[in-house]
Amino acid sequence: MDFRVDLAIVERLPKGCRFGLTLHNLSEKSHTNWQLHFVFERFITPDSLSQGNLTQVGTFCSLNIEGTPLYANNHVYVEFCIATAPLKSLNDGIREAYLNTDSLTQYPVTTSPIVLGSGEDKSNPIGDVFEGRHGLIPEPQSIELGDSVYELTRYSQICVEDQAMQSVANWLKDEIDRLFSITTKSIGQQDIRFRHSPVLDNEAYKLRVDHTGIEIESNGNAGFVYGCATLMQLMDFDKDRHTLYVPHVQIHDAPRFRYRGVMLDSARSFQPISEIKRLLNLLAHYKINTFHWHLTDDEAWRLEIHAFPELTEVGAWRGAERALEPQLHSIQRDYGGYYTQQEVAEIIEYAAARNIQVIPEIDVPGHSRAAIKSLPHLLVDKEDSSSYRSAQNYCDNVLSPGLPGTYQFLDTVFEEVAALFPSPFIHIGADQVPVGVWSDSPSCHTLMAEHGYHNPKDLQGHLLRHVEDKLKSLGKRMLGWEEGNLVNKVSKDTIVYSWLSEEAAINSAKLGYDVILQPGQSTYLDMAQDNNTTELGVHSANAITLEKAYHYEPLAQLHPDDPVKKRILGMQAAVWTERITSPDTLDYMMFPRLTALAETAWSTSNHKDYRAFLSRLKRHLSLLDRQHVKYKHPWPTGQGIQGAQYQTQRQQQNNRF
Ligand code: ACM
Repeated sequence: MDFRVDLAIVERLPKGCRFGLTLHNLSEKSHTNWQLHFVFERFITPDSLSQGNLTQVGTFCSLNIEGTPLYANNHVYVEFCIATAPLKSLNDGIREAYLNTDSLTQYPVTTSPIVLGSGEDKSNPIGDVFEGRHGLIPEPQSIELGDSVYELTRYSQICVEDQAMQSVANWLKDEIDRLFSITTKSIGQQDIRFRHSPVLDNEAYKLRVDHTGIEIESNGNAGFVYGCATLMQLMDFDKDRHTLYVPHVQIHDAPRFRYRGVMLDSARSFQPISEIKRLLNLLAHYKINTFHWHLTDDEAWRLEIHAFPELTEVGAWRGAERALEPQLHSIQRDYGGYYTQQEVAEIIEYAAARNIQVIPEIDVPGHSRAAIKSLPHLLVDKEDSSSYRSAQNYCDNVLSPGLPGTYQFLDTVFEEVAALFPSPFIHIGADQVPVGVWSDSPSCHTLMAEHGYHNPKDLQGHLLRHVEDKLKSLGKRMLGWEEGNLVNKVSKDTIVYSWLSEEAAINSAKLGYDVILQPGQSTYLDMAQDNNTTELGVHSANAITLEKAYHYEPLAQLHPDDPVKKRILGMQAAVWTERITSPDTLDYMMFPRLTALAETAWSTSNHKDYRAFLSRLKRHLSLLDRQHVKYKHPWPTGQGIQGAQYQTQRQQQNNRF
């Protein structure tokens, strides 16, 4: 490669860092005019450059130094600052870069790991444990393991009492075929029996394995899915005899929380539907019953909307010549994609067969840059001269409550979303609306005067109440992220997703809102799993180690009998994908931490024990291996640092979604 960019921390400041950037021209050709484009996740203080000009939109930075040629076999050097906490990881530097020259040619630029200076390598190895007698995750409410085993043969058959159970039986059959390469016959002995049991609670199941065979009891498909998931975790394969066997066991099981979710961000990175299905299938093995699908954000709009084809024609793509600049990764080519309504219907059906409901999220009024760039005639408030910068460094990403086009957009989009998704819930985001928004917009001032609002922020409540009413008219209940812009601004029918702290959850519940817990400190699976500088993921204050994820105890500070707890419907893990650009990285960031969180969502706290979990996990890993899940190994063998580590640009580009 002819060009390389190096980034080094020159000085750690009380608040922030000073960096030195060196752009090397390793070729024999000089360039008089040039522009370096690169991805950097932190906001570079505009007046901190030692020379040249830098523009930054989100993560996309463009640097040029007028009058400074980039000579052959030479370099240019520039310093700049950020005003946020110092960087900790080799993955925090310049992720990708390219160079434009006066001939408008685009040259790839190699990036090297950031030089962190005083980087601390602190990994937290997990102590070794004995393998458990079984590898069940989550731990059931009650289990009695016998000493014998029941063998399945090639004549084994799954037997259902009525047709309604058939789809779960098909899932079990397909999974046994896939996991153990054993094909069960349609004619044979009735080894696995599904029995309807009206006395069991919703989602509860019983599993009995004895010398007569295997029996799963439940009052509906949810319990059958969970019974099958448990059964598959108990199965083992005898290679010599080519048979599957299951230990004799009696299990009586039911969930702790009725909502057990995973949120996936499909906006920052786009996962094809084959990957979404693979993920949903994995979630079913951990008794997760909700897939919260983050479909829109500043960096992309991923859902086909028939009334506004521009949302996906324009908003689903990032690129140097496109309305949305390159961001985050894959910046040297156009990047994107979207889900057609037909594909979404397929995903919903696939999820339902595994007892997973799909809740769509359309994030408004912040995080709406892709929509605004797609529909400027409806969504750009031309008179608005307010100045703001969002947490992700955008100055033009918030819908204007003062524009009629905003309501036309919201109503039309939510009508199509409500018709497409059978779930009674729609998530509307409502997070991270920046300070300063709407303050210099005549149309917003008019609206404020009409309604007697004194603060532009009141307009967020105005807009959200409009959306809530619209969703109610469509038979849907609104869900939104809590951070002070939701609670007491909308009715108590709205369900609050707390992500900043447990305190916000408790306060919302005390005010009478139903709450879903998703505390970033324990459940954000984009966070690094270790404090090691080579570890993948976002390095914030502290890594979310497997132990930390496991020890998350919802509302631990409340008394067990506190009535506020009744308002907590459940919890979920979140997978933000700014840095999760490939199926392998998705696996690595999710597993095994998701198994820990799934246990907290399902098993009551008196059943939780970290060392016992590790013992079960050790046995359980073979099931992940059978599914080719590229998890972070809790007990890596061999030398060196654990797991997947700092990824070079070439590694990042391989195996992308
Ligand atoms: C969030 O992490 N902005 C919900």
